[in-house]
Amino acid sequence: MKNKAKSPSLKLGLPSLIFICSLFFFIGLFISTIFFQGLGDARPRSGVRILEESVVDKEYDPLDHGKTGEDFVESIPFQVLSWRPRALYFPNFTSAGLCERIIDMAKSKLQPSKLAMRKGESAESTKGTRTSSGTFISASEDKTGILDLIERKIARITMLPRTHGEAFNILRYEIGQKYDAHYDAFNPAEYGPQQSQRVASFLLYLSNVEAGGETMFPFEDGVNMGTRYDYKECIGLKVKPRQGDGLLFYSLLPNGIIDKNSLHGSCPVIEGQKWVATKWIRDRDRV
Ligand SMILES: *[C@@H]1O[C@H](CO)[C@@H](O)[C@H](O)[C@H]1NC(C)=O
Repeated sequence: MKNKAKSPSLKLGLPSLIFICSLFFFIGLFISTIFFQGLGDARPRSGVRILEESVVDKEYDPLDHGKTGEDFVESIPFQVLSWRPRALYFPNFTSAGLCERIIDMAKSKLQPSKLAMRKGESAESTKGTRTSSGTFISASEDKTGILDLIERKIARITMLPRTHGEAFNILRYEIGQKYDAHYDAFNPAEYGPQQSQRVASFLLYLSNVEAGGETMFPFEDGVNMGTRYDYKECIGLKVKPRQGDGLLFYSLLPNGIIDKNSLHGSCPVIEGQKWVATKWIRDRDRV
C-alpha cells in the first residue's frame, strides 16, 4: 500500500525536479548577469571600462600578489626615446574618445599659463616664454573618473605613487604659441629652497597637431650643451604630438640631482591646435 501510494508522486517528481533545477539555473544566470553589469556600471563610464580591460594581458598567469598589488598582468607598449634624459614614449596610452572628453572638461576653464619665477625675474621680464592657456584639474574633481584612471596608469608606469602627483595641467597651444626650453625641476640656487622636487613629468597628448608643437629636448645626449643656445630655438630630440600618446621623462638623475639633459620645451604650433595634459610628479607625497 505504501509503495503504491508513493509511486505516482515519484513519476511526477523527476520531470518537475529537472524543470525546477533549470528554472533556478536560469534565474541564477540572469541575476549574475545583472549583478556583474551593475558592477561595471558602478565604474565611471563604459569608455573607461573598455580602456581598462584592453591592457590586461590574458596570455600570462599572474602571481600571488601583495596587499597593494594587482591580480592581472598588463601590457603597456613603450619605446625608450633617450637615456639622456630618461624619456619614454607610450603610443596609444589613452583612447581618442577620452582625450576629447578631457579637452571638453578643460575648454571653459582656460587661463593664460603662468611661470614659476626665478630670483630677480618678473612677469614682465619673462613675458613670451610660455604663451599657452591652461587649467589645473585634479582627478578627484573629475566626476567622470577619466583622470582617475589615467592617474592610476601613470602611477603604474612610473612606480611613483599617485599621491606624489600635482593636479593635471591641461594646456592649449594655438598657432604661434610655445614654451621656451626650461627645466621642470626647481634648482634651489635659482628658485630658493623647495619643499619637494619634481622627479618626472608625464605628457598626454590630447590632440593631433597638423604642424609644429613638438616637445623638444635641445640638450638630449649633451648635444648643444655649452653652446650659445638661446632657449627659444626648436632643436634637438623632437617628439611629435599624436592624440592619445604619452611621453614620460625624468628631471632628476637616480641620485636626485637635476638632469641637465632634461631641458625641454614646446615648439611653436605652426598649424592646428595642440592640447596636452601634463602631470608633474614629485619626490614626496603632496597630501
Ligand atoms: C593606435 O591608435 C591609432 C590612432 O588612434 C590607431 O590607428 C592604431 O590602430 C592604434 N594602434 C594599436 C596597436 O592599437
